[in-house]
Amino acid sequence: SPGYTQAIRASFFDITRTVDQPQQLPDVARYLEDGLLLLNQGCIVSLSAWEEGQHLLHPDLEPLDYRGKLIVPGFVDTHIHYPQTEMVGSYGEQLLEWLNQYTFPVESQYHCPQHAARMSAFFLQQLLSNGTTTALVFGTVHPQSVDALFTAASALEMRLIAGKVMMDRHGPDALMETPEESYQQTRELIERWHNHGRLSYALTPRYAATSTPELLEKVQQLRHEFPDTWLHTHLSENLQEIAWIKELFPEHNGYLDVYHQYQLTGQRSLFAHCLHLEDHEWDCLHHTDSAIAFCPTSNLFLGSGLFDLKTCWHKGVKMGIGTDIGAGTTFNMLQTMGEAYKVGQLQRYKLSACEAFYHATLGGAKALDLDDRIGNFMPGKEADFVVIDPAVSPLQQMRHTNSRDIWEKLFVLMTLGDDRNIAATWVNGRCVWEVNAPAVNS
Ligand code: GUN
Ligand code: ZN
Repeated sequence: SPGYTQAIRASFFDITRTVDQPQQLPDVARYLEDGLLLLNQGCIVSLSAWEEGQHLLHPDLEPLDYRGKLIVPGFVDTHIHYPQTEMVGSYGEQLLEWLNQYTFPVESQYHCPQHAARMSAFFLQQLLSNGTTTALVFGTVHPQSVDALFTAASALEMRLIAGKVMMDRHGPDALMETPEESYQQTRELIERWHNHGRLSYALTPRYAATSTPELLEKVQQLRHEFPDTWLHTHLSENLQEIAWIKELFPEHNGYLDVYHQYQLTGQRSLFAHCLHLEDHEWDCLHHTDSAIAFCPTSNLFLGSGLFDLKTCWHKGVKMGIGTDIGAGTTFNMLQTMGEAYKVGQLQRYKLSACEAFYHATLGGAKALDLDDRIGNFMPGKEADFVVIDPAVSPLQQMRHTNSRDIWEKLFVLMTLGDDRNIAATWVNGRCVWEVNAPAVNS
């Protein structure tokens, strides 16, 4: 048998490969009630049933016993703003007023490296304590915001993609930059951090409304110079926003066409929200192999609209789930899946637990073009996973005694679950967060 350095016994659930249609998912899902996971140097060696796998074990290496717990691949959050952690639950406004009243003042504080370092540590602890092991993250316009986040993520060996916001109009003076400054600072960050360990860089123009054509040209130039970076922005979130962007860019054929004309669509391009797309915009996302982040708690909290899951599958557009903290209201992927289900219900779309877990793990990894490295327990993948305690409250315990199979257990978990269900989080083969462990100072 191949060498291993760690063995873990528990129940396991994952999705073994990507699919084009949700109907295919149950056939590629794997559930092992009593399973054995072998790791070597932060990578998966194998996952097997305990019955078969126990023969591979060396007598002198006792497996870690997580029986009674369910281990799933680490959650992938495809859209989140770390500087907005401190403003979750800001009352009363929709997108454009919400940005001006709450978001921009909070982001203005990230010129201070100490503040950025403190908030980065807190943010990463929030991700890990909720079972999220990979995220695509917005910083602020300040390069120090991204230095702080990458420094903290690097110490944890997390697979993280992030970038400095690029914006040069329609914001407060404290968040403005020139296209030339944006280019230079982004370039320096890419050279410092992109492909540094498990870290990657995303070019991050905030959205079309805060970008002049000159800024978008700089983004295009950087993408050309660094073709293996990611592109992360917002698209078609709010009806007023869309009308405004059409006024700002009258020569373009709609919102997505602004990004497309600057060659910002493509593989490793990720557009958050996409709630009010026109048919030709769906087709453009498909043809360019771009991806979407579906952010249900944010879309409901800001009253932005309902994401169309059915059309997303039908049009063949890659999609992952995002929390979109701080317009989103939780870091927790179980709760986010539960809200995604309700978004489906409002449109007569039945989001199964199997599909929801796919979007939150392998599907999200695929949307980020990381499905060759993370997202399930196939041999050679990086060992990022979450240990879930399926029943941590009297209500959950009662509900689980009545649940018949793994599908019902997973569905109850995404309906009633939250951060209390996350017992431990492993990153790169190491346990980096555990319930009841002493808090890391942050
Ligand atoms: N559009 C532009 N900036 C933002 C942001 O910070 N949050 C959300 N939800 N939408 C945006
Ligand atoms: Zn966002």
